[in-house]
Amino acid sequence: MAAELPAWLRQRLTAAGGSVPFLTYMEWVLHDPAHGAYGSGRLRIGPAGDFVTAPSLGSDFAALLAQQVIDWLEALLPACEGRLSLVEAGPGEGQLALDLAQHIATARPELACRLELVLVEPNPGMAERQKLHLQACPLPRRWASFAELAAAPVTGVVLAHEVLDALAVERIVADGALWRRQRVALHGAGLRLEPGEPLEPEQLAQLEALGLREPGPQRPSGWCSELHPGLASWLEACGRGLGCGQLLVIDYAHEAWRYYAPQRAQGTLMAYRAQRASDDPLLEPGAWDLTAHLCLESLQSAAERCGWRSLGQCRQGQALLALGLAERLHGLQQQPRAGLEQLLQRREALLRLVDPRTLGDFRWIALARDDGRPQPDGPLPRFLQEPPCS
Ligand SMILES: C[S@@+](CC[C@H](N)C(=O)[O-])C[C@H]1O[C@@H](n2cnc3c(N)ncnc32)[C@H](O)[C@@H]1O
Repeated sequence: MAAELPAWLRQRLTAAGGSVPFLTYMEWVLHDPAHGAYGSGRLRIGPAGDFVTAPSLGSDFAALLAQQVIDWLEALLPACEGRLSLVEAGPGEGQLALDLAQHIATARPELACRLELVLVEPNPGMAERQKLHLQACPLPRRWASFAELAAAPVTGVVLAHEVLDALAVERIVADGALWRRQRVALHGAGLRLEPGEPLEPEQLAQLEALGLREPGPQRPSGWCSELHPGLASWLEACGRGLGCGQLLVIDYAHEAWRYYAPQRAQGTLMAYRAQRASDDPLLEPGAWDLTAHLCLESLQSAAERCGWRSLGQCRQGQALLALGLAERLHGLQQQPRAGLEQLLQRREALLRLVDPRTLGDFRWIALARDDGRPQPDGPLPRFLQEPPCS
């Protein structure tokens, strides 16, 4: 489809011979420091911005999540001589980090005294906004890359909330009996998507492991989906930065059979801007967020290869109910009616977090690693336990 083409992108594509793999295009339009939607800090997260995320709906999400984070940090405390670290990768506006820090400082001041906040944000435009937003943070804080953390790996908890869905994906397209890599090409005054070279044997092996051999009649020419080549290097880097502790990934994710179902003929890639959604990734490049779901099996196998232990996964609705969302909802009814409008907003936000058609379908995926010393697995993470019957 033709689209408005910024001069910088035309120059890059021309220099690259007229087309690039979709992966390269997505990397540029999201993360280029001058022109990318995140790189430049152009995207705004929240009800008044481009799209909402769970933390941007209010602080109840952080208050519920904080209980699991506190459990994990307190279990790590006895064996840790220095500070513990609460690391957030891809902090967006910094709202989740701020709310968690404030909650922990109030609920567990003795833990907060031993805790630092570490923000891992590769996009300079976003990091600038986070620095402003986190001025009120009660914990000592620093911004660092995983590579910088690897020089002195931290002990603690890493949160990755809606960050792995912002990693650039490879788009694969069926073409008769072949799988091809999708490319983004100059086309007149705009851009178009076109099938490129056949997939490499390594990518074909990945597809086969996910249950996809040659396209076949169920996946006619033009059927397309995504592979996630950035996951392994991200998990590897994160693992080098975290010597010992847990990683909680919270994101849109499907099992492979659902992800690559024949009827999902255009994959999971979506574009967001100003609370609008589109399945056209070529719209106003550098102005829209582009995001693709995770494939659970691809994530788990990449994690295992990088030395992570799986602690389990569940849907967000189940996780938040196990952490006390129903009690919190009930508690709202007991509050004085003075701030009725605010109470109704909180109630609405809590219900959105567990709505199985939207945020409630997110996955919470827990992984752990240690620094070589044998570690007991400990009790099941609280969010994977059955919610209490009320
Ligand atoms: C969809 S936003 C999520 C923001 C926040 N976690 C939330 O839920 O509100 C994605 C964030 O991840 C950042 N990001 C993108 N690629 C990243 C990477 N490779 N490592 C860490 N953060 C990344 C973006 O700049 C942005 O801050």
